[in-house]
Amino acid sequence: MKPTLYLTRPLAIDAQDVVGARANLRLNAEDRPLTQDELIAAAQGAQGLISMLHDPIDRRVLDALPELQVIANVAVGYNNIDVRACAERNITVCNTPGVLTDATADITWALILACTRRVREGERLVRSGGFDGWGPNMLLGPSLAGKTLGIYGMGRIGQAVARRALAFGMRVIYHNRRAAQTDFDAELVGNDELIRRSDVLSLHAPLTEETDGAFGEAELAQMKPSAVLINTARGPLLDEEALVRALDSERLWGAGLDVYAREPEVHPGLIHRDDVVLLPHLGSATIECRQEMARRALHDALAVVHGERPRFSVGG
Ligand code: DGY
Repeated sequence: MKPTLYLTRPLAIDAQDVVGARANLRLNAEDRPLTQDELIAAAQGAQGLISMLHDPIDRRVLDALPELQVIANVAVGYNNIDVRACAERNITVCNTPGVLTDATADITWALILACTRRVREGERLVRSGGFDGWGPNMLLGPSLAGKTLGIYGMGRIGQAVARRALAFGMRVIYHNRRAAQTDFDAELVGNDELIRRSDVLSLHAPLTEETDGAFGEAELAQMKPSAVLINTARGPLLDEEALVRALDSERLWGAGLDVYAREPEVHPGLIHRDDVVLLPHLGSATIECRQEMARRALHDALAVVHGERPRFSVGG
């Protein structure tokens, strides 16, 4: 019998073009996140699930979908999936590493520049009619050349962000579980030193038990008051309450966030601030990147339901 793939959202490509006659395709055509109950009901009988980072795939879902053989997450991060529970059930979990490295590094730099050069405030000033001429002290921000970029998590994305920093004349320090093999100068330091020395501190670690809440009150208190904190990784790495307090007491220059602890909720204390730039999880949102992520997830799901090896699977 032909296997069935269930897609929890429409993708950036026509999935049917990739799947052809190799599987039946079913889809949440409403293009909104499904509740867990809706997902369970809609995906009944499917052997493959194409999931998004907002779909929590836990034991309850897995128990309710006993025919599943593969979950292909259209993301590099897979903290939304209980990988151990999948392994226990012989369900392969796939993700899309590599393809979104540059897109995410670019959005990280968009946030760094927007924060330090006060792009959001400047744009709003002009649109509101408040720009009444150049001023020697108007909207000044810290320069980047000669400053230190700190990278927390020196994987593919952290390295791509660091590589771009060289063009801005910055020095790079990083904290990682092990030394990274880089083709540019970057100094491996302890976490405290990373926090204390960074003028821009950018988070690029996956969300794990170890990184959950890694940047709280104590860590933010060690940062330079002139520093900028950027998070394009996963919201829970950062304690947003502590961030609001640090900004309120001017213990930080500003922050740029693409991800949130309780996404899509944004901490109310962040919403109206001028010293934070907030994006709606756009890290991988280039046309080419989202199309390739979709292609890879579909290819791997198809491979598994046909008894072939997927290209990108994660361990349990
Ligand atoms: C990912 O793939 O994990 C990103 O967060 C998506 O933008």
